[in-house]
Amino acid sequence: MILVIDFGGQTAHLIVRRLRFLGSPAKMVIPEDALEVIQAEKPQGIVLSGGPISVYEQGAPTVDTKIFALGIPILGICYGFQLTAHLLGGKVIAGRKEYGPASFTVLDDSSRLLKGVARNITVWMSHGDEIIQIPSGFTLIGSTPHVPNTAAEDEHSKMYMLQFHPEVEHTEFGSFILQNFIEICGIAKNHHSVDPGEYIQRIRNTVGEHHVIGAISGGVDSTVAGTLVATAIGKQLIPIFVDNGLMRDDAALTVKKVFAQFGIAPIIVDVRHEMLRRLQGITDSEEKRKVIGAFYIEVFEAEMHKLLQKEQDVAYLLQGTIYSDVIESQGTKYASRIKSHHNVGGLPEHMKLALLEPLRELYKDEVRALGRRIGLPAEFILKQPFPGPGFAVRIRGEVTAQRLAQEKQADSIVLEELERAGLLENVFISFPVMTGAYSTATKGDGKFFGEVIALRVVQSTDIMTATWAKLPSDLLQKISSRIVNEVPNISRVVYDITTKPPATMEWE
Ligand code: XMP
Repeated sequence: MILVIDFGGQTAHLIVRRLRFLGSPAKMVIPEDALEVIQAEKPQGIVLSGGPISVYEQGAPTVDTKIFALGIPILGICYGFQLTAHLLGGKVIAGRKEYGPASFTVLDDSSRLLKGVARNITVWMSHGDEIIQIPSGFTLIGSTPHVPNTAAEDEHSKMYMLQFHPEVEHTEFGSFILQNFIEICGIAKNHHSVDPGEYIQRIRNTVGEHHVIGAISGGVDSTVAGTLVATAIGKQLIPIFVDNGLMRDDAALTVKKVFAQFGIAPIIVDVRHEMLRRLQGITDSEEKRKVIGAFYIEVFEAEMHKLLQKEQDVAYLLQGTIYSDVIESQGTKYASRIKSHHNVGGLPEHMKLALLEPLRELYKDEVRALGRRIGLPAEFILKQPFPGPGFAVRIRGEVTAQRLAQEKQADSIVLEELERAGLLENVFISFPVMTGAYSTATKGDGKFFGEVIALRVVQSTDIMTATWAKLPSDLLQKISSRIVNEVPNISRVVYDITTKPPATMEWE
């Protein structure tokens, strides 16, 4: 087993997952418990994860230096490398930031960690500090133009250090490197996969004879969660879909179709007008999320009260929360909070239902794999992820009926054209953003000042990192022409060519 010490990096959980995927058992532990767990469970390898804090910050997480003397192979990633350097006599300087792709050159062909890796590869960086001196005993095995000490190892003590993140998919040869580390640890392969039977059984055991109210949005996550629970407990599940008008227009239909196969008619609550009224005058993005989240809970609560009067034994509330929602909302212990996803932890105390979140530990691609295995059709599974607050986070500034209609019309054009070009399944997420910026355009003889739409189309599998999609220029031209010609008062379309990190996928 490989033990991953979690210093709070956004991708710490991904290290565990990749290791498991590559055939090694792995588990995560917080730094405070690390030594005790190592002594008790004797892992064959240790990974020190990345983290958002500088080793010099007060309260920065650390480990007992005893772990370096145990002879267990150690892989330090980003913060893990910096911490090792700091603890073993190297030098780290604060404030040398670097985010996104970097060009890495292998300097030592004999390195076991970099065995089979091409000489020049693109790696993914996300760090705020830099190691300017590696500890004695270590050899430099790779560099980037900006960060000379990018990779180092002490083969004798089986310590391997990387400034970049091998666990993210945009690091070329990342899996190779992790595979090499698994080999260094002497672990034999043992393939893991997601087993729906296990999830279904767990749901049955938890729920028993009770009823479950399901918060269903029509997106992939809640569709998979809902189907899983419907498979497990059938009509004990009561799905509720709150139609606030901020979702794609086919969402209500999708929800009806999915549950029809179990003979379940979901409750659909139409609050489209009231939602827009509540959003009047609100321009701040977090404020919008709060209003939408609070209204959702209000509507949901009212429906629940009605149900609770009818059904005596409702005990659970099902949510399609997945792992990225969890980390982006709360962070792991040391991760910084990014933004509040309304589907995490937003329930008021007086709604005395326990949360049922069967997908909480899973990444998007694992959720899709699970969905496939429980028989959901490919078109559901491949549906793009859609944010909880819906189009509201894609309309900068106030969400008015008019701007929402413009956004939806442009969104349909983008989807239609990607589909027509046969590229819809190749992109992770695609959407127009009503930017709130205005520019001049001429139509016929008249000049007008209209809103600028930004087109965002990205590729990703794990949500944590993404690249912008290199769409063919004639497709971009087609989308742009259709939007400015068909959607009223749009003056121009610009294409967003920013990777994540540093930019998030959504604009708000
Ligand atoms: P970002 O913008 O954080 O997006 O790179 C990552 C994924 O999360 C979705 N997203 C949200 N989902 N509430 C949600 O439920 C939100 O406030 C929210 N913001 C972003 C986004 O669509 C993408 O799939």
